[in-house]
Amino acid sequence: MYLQKYQSKIVSAHEAVKVVKSGDRVLLHANSCYPEILLNAMCNRYQELNDVEIAHLTIFQKPCYLKPEMQNHFRHNALFTSGHVRKAVNEGTVDFTPVFLSEIPLIIERGILPIDVVFLHVSSPDTHGFCSYSVSNEITKTAAENAKVVIAQINHKMPRVLGDNFIHVDKIDYIVECDPDLIEVPMVDPNSTEDEKKVFRKIGETIASLIKDGDTLQMGIGAIPDAVLSYLTEKNDLGIHTEMFSDGLIDLIDKGIITGDRKTLLPGKIVASFVIATKKTFDYINNNPIVEFRTTKFVNDPYIIARNDNMVSINSAIQVDFTGQACSDSMGHKIYSGFGGQVDFIRGASRSRNGKPIIAMPSTAKNHTISKIVDTLTPGSGVTTSKADIHYVVTEYGIADLYGKTLRERVKQLISIAHPNFREDLERKAREFKYLW
Ligand code: COA
Repeated sequence: MYLQKYQSKIVSAHEAVKVVKSGDRVLLHANSCYPEILLNAMCNRYQELNDVEIAHLTIFQKPCYLKPEMQNHFRHNALFTSGHVRKAVNEGTVDFTPVFLSEIPLIIERGILPIDVVFLHVSSPDTHGFCSYSVSNEITKTAAENAKVVIAQINHKMPRVLGDNFIHVDKIDYIVECDPDLIEVPMVDPNSTEDEKKVFRKIGETIASLIKDGDTLQMGIGAIPDAVLSYLTEKNDLGIHTEMFSDGLIDLIDKGIITGDRKTLLPGKIVASFVIATKKTFDYINNNPIVEFRTTKFVNDPYIIARNDNMVSINSAIQVDFTGQACSDSMGHKIYSGFGGQVDFIRGASRSRNGKPIIAMPSTAKNHTISKIVDTLTPGSGVTTSKADIHYVVTEYGIADLYGKTLRERVKQLISIAHPNFREDLERKAREFKYLW
């Protein structure tokens, strides 16, 4: 039935992107669904276009529109800053919008971030004409439902991921058929030194001691949340409710450690919004009924998260100050990443019955020369997780449990998990600030 319509919508990328006008805002499908063919076709038209805003979350390719000659034609709005745009954000040629991942769909729906054109990269339609948003739903489904024009790269290599994760061919205006391989992104950095691995191991073991059989987990972005997974092999019946996951999860499902049987919301389902992963995960989640992808409006809503009893969220930070304020998205004024889902999950886990929000990080950076536990956040740093939201902070030296604790108790605990080389200085500062006496 839908086939005739499907055929009638097929155009070349060059034809499809003619719909973009000067002044439009274009939102790109994120992560491994990066719509590179459409984007390149739009970049080829750069001399005809002015002031086109391109908005997106994480991307793993260097975008064509960052070339110097395109600067006055395209303006980029990073809703999360990843490696390829970090330099440009900090040079001021790219905009950055600080926002909770749970609320990006809201700002789109409320017309605060209206979308003119959305570029998708989706799976081939099923027998009923539904294409899957595949490995990246997050804000894209909301953007497609609210955009004036929907253009889709349709790729038979895109996994068909289940959940509230589909768009019907009827809702797509232009189709560009293609077959590039998916971009693969391993989460674990192959260049980690032995020393870093030792630190990750210690942190992984410590977090594992906070996780009980039957808990539901969220793993945030970064090396540590993923490293924790290898220390959970002795647990039973874990569940997953997380905005993202990567390859580490698959082994635990295969071993029967993650079953979701004791989840109090959507039992048996791995609830997520996107993956940052390799072919191993893409193949695993393809057509797999245990996987339930939804937008971050649902997955990251703290009230939805809290409906999972025993919710444990594991995120990382760049610095934590004496009072328990965590900066996770910048180094001073330099933007590093974004809010992502950190606060969504800290608040959700905090409200969950027996929930445990965890911030885990090495005690130092740059080969032990910088303490990540500090008396004061570097000027210009924003607070990501506030001192009222913080619960557990974990380093390779142990656990600080700050929730409901006085400043004096917090300082003592944080100094006890700081690197020994910095403890004396931190204690001196704490006395100077009258947190200790
Ligand atoms: N001072 C100076 N440099 C620091 C630092 C500090 N306090 N802390 C980290 N760095 C440096 C590291 O040395 C590293 O530098 P390199 O790339 O030159 O090696 C770089 O910053 C990244 O640090 P690293 O510890 O490797 O980061 P990560 O990949 O583990 O990610 C966060 C950690 C905090 C950046 C990441 O979790 C994040 O962006 N969080 C915010 C959003 C979030 O939590 N979302 C939830 C899921 S979407």
